[in-house]
Amino acid sequence: MQLKLHRLGLLLACACASLATHAATPAVAAAPAETAPAEAQRMQWFADAKFGIFIHYGIYAVDGIDESWSFFDGYVSYDHYMRQLKGFTAADYHPQAWADLIRESGARYAVLTAKHHDGVALWDTAQGLNVVKDTLAKRDLVGPFVQALRKDGLKVGLYFSLIDWSYKDYPGFTKAESRYDAKADPARWNRFVQYYQGQLRDLSQRYNPDLYWFDGDWEHSAAEWHAKQDREMLLARNPGAIINSRLAGYGDYATPEQGVPITRPPQKYWELCLTMNNSWGWQPNDHHFKSANQLIRILADTIGMGGNLLLDIGPRADGTIPAPEVDTLKQIGRWTHKHAEAIYGTQAGIPKDYYAGSSTLSKDGRTLYLFVDGRPNGPVLVKGLMNRVLHARVVGNGTTLDTQVVGKPYWSKVPGLLYVTVPPAALDPEVTVLALTLDGPVRLFHDEVKPIESN
Ligand code: GLC
Repeated sequence: MQLKLHRLGLLLACACASLATHAATPAVAAAPAETAPAEAQRMQWFADAKFGIFIHYGIYAVDGIDESWSFFDGYVSYDHYMRQLKGFTAADYHPQAWADLIRESGARYAVLTAKHHDGVALWDTAQGLNVVKDTLAKRDLVGPFVQALRKDGLKVGLYFSLIDWSYKDYPGFTKAESRYDAKADPARWNRFVQYYQGQLRDLSQRYNPDLYWFDGDWEHSAAEWHAKQDREMLLARNPGAIINSRLAGYGDYATPEQGVPITRPPQKYWELCLTMNNSWGWQPNDHHFKSANQLIRILADTIGMGGNLLLDIGPRADGTIPAPEVDTLKQIGRWTHKHAEAIYGTQAGIPKDYYAGSSTLSKDGRTLYLFVDGRPNGPVLVKGLMNRVLHARVVGNGTTLDTQVVGKPYWSKVPGLLYVTVPPAALDPEVTVLALTLDGPVRLFHDEVKPIESN
């Protein structure tokens, strides 16, 4: 993917800004009344869900170009970009088929771009551009999808861009041109705030999503956005709602984008958003799809570090989902359904010093799930495990496994090396998952290993 330098700059700036905010304000800054147990309860479904689907659906799929950024970056003119309004039909939009596919993939929630930075809303807004009055779609695309998700027992997330590069009272327009300076004309800025907050209120009243996925906070400060007010308004409507981090410090969870974290992120809740190829929306020339195997491994890695994966799809302008994406979601679905107990409702696994791969733990910490990439040519090794393994098996297959502990002299405190032998016939074609039932909640050896002076 071509990394646009200014965007990288923006991302870095945001990362620093959000680090600064995290350092300065506790996570519950916006809702001081919320106790830690109440927060944990509100976040529970999200923490348990592990896997969600992001959907970038908008007029940018007509020409198959970058969502919003293509005119902001000057790749096409604004007028050229907006001509796509005339080609957006949603003629084959079947929200129940989307929801069913999402459920089949094993995702437990989905996030739909209700409005991207281009300002074209997918529902019938009172003001601004929307697909109901400005395109041939002529219908609300959000409501039916929300209903379909709920019918399938999936949680509903709506993406909402704070930035609206189309709106007459929004300062930013393109990289080269801005309408005005918000600080110099607070009354005009305030008109924008009224407008966008009206849309947010409308979204919350009509659809009452379980999760709000904000984006674009980097163009203004929390005070300018009135971010605290947004949070309070949304939580007043639905006290159980969850808000992502991109609300200028007033969100609930971190949102690393594209880069799979190397080490476990410090935040309690986080979600990696990731494209299947290199584009958020549908782009016919982008064939750089990650394979189902790579995505399954990324999912295992992510949940092993205590995060969620929000995997993106980009439907075509008519509402159909491209075949490679459908196929990949089905392949992921086979794997997630087979290994459900090692995925949903689990917690981060053990550090990679102990098991050189991804792992998760059951909520009670008594079952350790080991994700085995590829085909091991010898037994799988776990180090430093203080527990006794009562039973070892292959998840979704039932095969009981032989375990062996070696290198444990009776006088040493260091646990021996635990080897688990996996018969080749029990291997999964993608990633095999082993379950070790422990004699109690997991305990790892942490003491310094000292040289033996005498024995
Ligand atoms: C970035 C991009 C946006 C995309 C989003 C998804 O913020 O600006 O186009 O929708 O990431 O995470």
